[in-house]
Amino acid sequence: MNNPFSLKGKRYIITGAASGIGRAAASAVSEAGADLELVDINMDGLIDTINTMKDKKGRISPICLDLAKTENIKICIEDIVRQRGKLSGLVHCAGIPYISPLRSISAEQLEKVFRINTTAALELSKIFSKSAICETSGSIVLISSVYASVGSSCNAGYAASKAALHGLTRSLAIELAPKKIRVNCIAPGFIDTRMKESIAHLFDEEHDAILRSLHPLGLGEPEDIAYAVQYLISDAAKWVTGAILNIDGGFTAQ
Ligand code: NAI
Repeated sequence: MNNPFSLKGKRYIITGAASGIGRAAASAVSEAGADLELVDINMDGLIDTINTMKDKKGRISPICLDLAKTENIKICIEDIVRQRGKLSGLVHCAGIPYISPLRSISAEQLEKVFRINTTAALELSKIFSKSAICETSGSIVLISSVYASVGSSCNAGYAASKAALHGLTRSLAIELAPKKIRVNCIAPGFIDTRMKESIAHLFDEEHDAILRSLHPLGLGEPEDIAYAVQYLISDAAKWVTGAILNIDGGFTAQ
């Protein structure tokens, strides 16, 4: 019987695959049978991702790329397609946090956050949607955050970069539907990853307890997001586009 969740014979780009959610997404998508183009600025992390995968099915290629350098994204994707053929989809997991009170937000750092979290999503989608790059149908999945829709002090720069992805998702869903390209976004709550570790020094233990209490089901794991990625790029989601899927242990249900 045809399994709509199977990704056999498909090929996806996953950014941010050297760590956390991107790494877990790469594992889930590979286990479902797809070939992968794993993109990250951290090549060692990509190699670790590949080495720690339990059940690799398809072919996997690691690609070192700094997504802050917008002009290099097109060259990189065209090169991938030239070497290994067209793509079935794109998952943009790469992202950086920006915790700063309003008075200290710098235009330079804000621009970097937007370039990686937001502009890269748009540029990747733009290149992917070309008929020379995408197969006859395709799927794009972006990763935002609960902070795209819930206010949080000292998070304005990050929240703005993620809220922009919701507008982008809905508009691209409409614009790319005639090309049979679906565009969806996952808005995660707090997940225990390197990103959470990287900002841990900014907070005390009390903050950690508050954070946990905001998630009725506790903090999440990268797999909680990875399985949703797998669903959204599969044919099981063939009628899903323009959706913002909150996966947050109940954070935004309150
Ligand atoms: P992570 O820090 O574990 O992974 C992010 C990956 O992006 C890393 O492998 C990093 O090397 C890569 N990256 C960063 N800058 C890059 C650049 N310039 N070019 C290419 N790659 C670059 O973070 P995590 O937690 O896995 O986050 C994944 C996504 O999920 C991010 O977009 C993040 O904003 C989002 N998110 C994470 C949450 C969490 O609690 N961990 C909550 C909500 C959203």
